[in-house]
Amino acid sequence: MDIILAGIIAYLIGSISFSYIFVKKIKKADIRKLGSGNAGATNTLRVLGKGPAILVLLLDALKGAVAVFIGFLAEMVFINTGLSFFEQYSGWTPALSGLLAILGHNYPIYYGFRGGKGVATTIGVIATLVFFPAIYVGIVAILAIVVTKYVSLGSLIFAFFTPFFVFLTMNHYDHPISYFFLTCVVGIMSIWRHRTNIQRLLSGTESKLGQKSK
Ligand code: G3P
Repeated sequence: MDIILAGIIAYLIGSISFSYIFVKKIKKADIRKLGSGNAGATNTLRVLGKGPAILVLLLDALKGAVAVFIGFLAEMVFINTGLSFFEQYSGWTPALSGLLAILGHNYPIYYGFRGGKGVATTIGVIATLVFFPAIYVGIVAILAIVVTKYVSLGSLIFAFFTPFFVFLTMNHYDHPISYFFLTCVVGIMSIWRHRTNIQRLLSGTESKLGQKSK
């Protein structure tokens, strides 16, 4: 499969906004005009409740995982028979496919390029590429959410610390450098998408889990 084709498919899959679809179907409303205005699982929790929010989280994460697998398939096509798969594997195609799925989620072609912050899709991409670092940083992020009740703080911790952890464990897990670069780009993008959350966290006006958005 062509690398460009893999990227386009990943972007189109990432552009499917499950929070938008669910809220449109169940409430006949645009999630981007409700709660925090974000098309994501946290805002689905505010607008529709636990069940739909968990489903959105899983489906948005699945988009990221599927995009990475498409990237794997595309990269495999370019592996020749001369060397072993692992000698030639660079990981750039799955990493770029994952990035494009997150870009699709954040800037979806189907919804006027106004999407979410890409957290669930990022989790799907990163957990597929670097499972153990994602689990370890994910545990810290979940603990932060449990203690503070700020989902955005957990998301920011995940975005900020994953690149460091991936870098430190790269040799141990035999991860290619492409995965590290991906986590850096995705981390910066995620922090940028959370800039209004950061302002609210600093001013003490961020909504907590189970609260209405301010
Ligand atoms: O899922 C994104 C989360 O980190 C923040 O969402 O709706 O509180 O801006 P929200």
